[in-house]
Amino acid sequence: MSAIHPSILSADFANLAQELARIPSADAVHVDVMDNHFVPNLTLGLPVVKAIRSATTLPLDIHLMIDDADRWAPEYAEAGCESVTFHIEAAARPGALARDLRSHGAQAAMAVKPGTSLEPHLKILSELDMVLIMTVEPGFGGQSFMESTLPKIAAARRAADDLGGHVAVQVDGGISRDTILRAAEAGADTFVAGSAVFGSTDPDEAVSALRSMVRA
Ligand code: DX5
Ligand code: ZN
Repeated sequence: MSAIHPSILSADFANLAQELARIPSADAVHVDVMDNHFVPNLTLGLPVVKAIRSATTLPLDIHLMIDDADRWAPEYAEAGCESVTFHIEAAARPGALARDLRSHGAQAAMAVKPGTSLEPHLKILSELDMVLIMTVEPGFGGQSFMESTLPKIAAARRAADDLGGHVAVQVDGGISRDTILRAAEAGADTFVAGSAVFGSTDPDEAVSALRSMVRA
C-alpha cells in the first residue's frame, strides 16, 4: 500500500490552516523541522507543530532535521504526532530513542542522508516503523531527485521485507510525476512531495495523480 505525504515546506507558512485544508486526501502531512545546525536552514519547532496538530485531523509525519534528536524528538510524540523521524546521524542512542517514541504512542523512524550508509544502521530496523531514505541533501525543498540513492532504497526494501514487511520505506526529496515511479520500482512505499504538491494549482489533485502512478 503506497502513501503520499505532502510536505508543508513548500506551503504558504502565513496560511498554514488553509494550506492543510487543500490536501484532504493526503495520507499524512509531512512536517520538516530544521534547526540551522543539522541543516543550514531554519523552519519551525514544537509550538508550530502543536498549532498544526490542532488545525488538521490528518496524521502528522514529523521529519526532524535537528541535532541532539535524543533530547528533542520525544516531545513531538508527546504532542500527539503519529510518526516521528530522527536522523541517524544526529541520534546517540537510536534504539532507546525509538523505544521512547513508541512508548508515547508514536511510530518511530530513522532517516539517512544521501552520503550515509544504511547497512551499519540496519540492526535497529526491527525497532522502527519506517526508514526514510533521503533522495536529496536535507535542508531545502525544490531540489532534484538523486538517482544515486536508488540502490539504497532497494537495500532498505530488502531489509524491510526480511523483517516481514512491517517497516515502511519512505523517500523524500525531488519526488514528482517524473521520479516517483523510479523510487517505487526501487522499493519505496511512502512518498514525500513538497513542491510537486504545493507548487500545483490543485494540490489535492496532485496528491491523487502521484498516488495513481504508484498504485496502478
Ligand atoms: C528537504 C525536506 C523535504 C522537502 C521536499 O530537506 O526534507 O521534505 O520538503 O521538497 P521537494 O518535494 O520539493 O523536494
Ligand atoms: Zn522532509
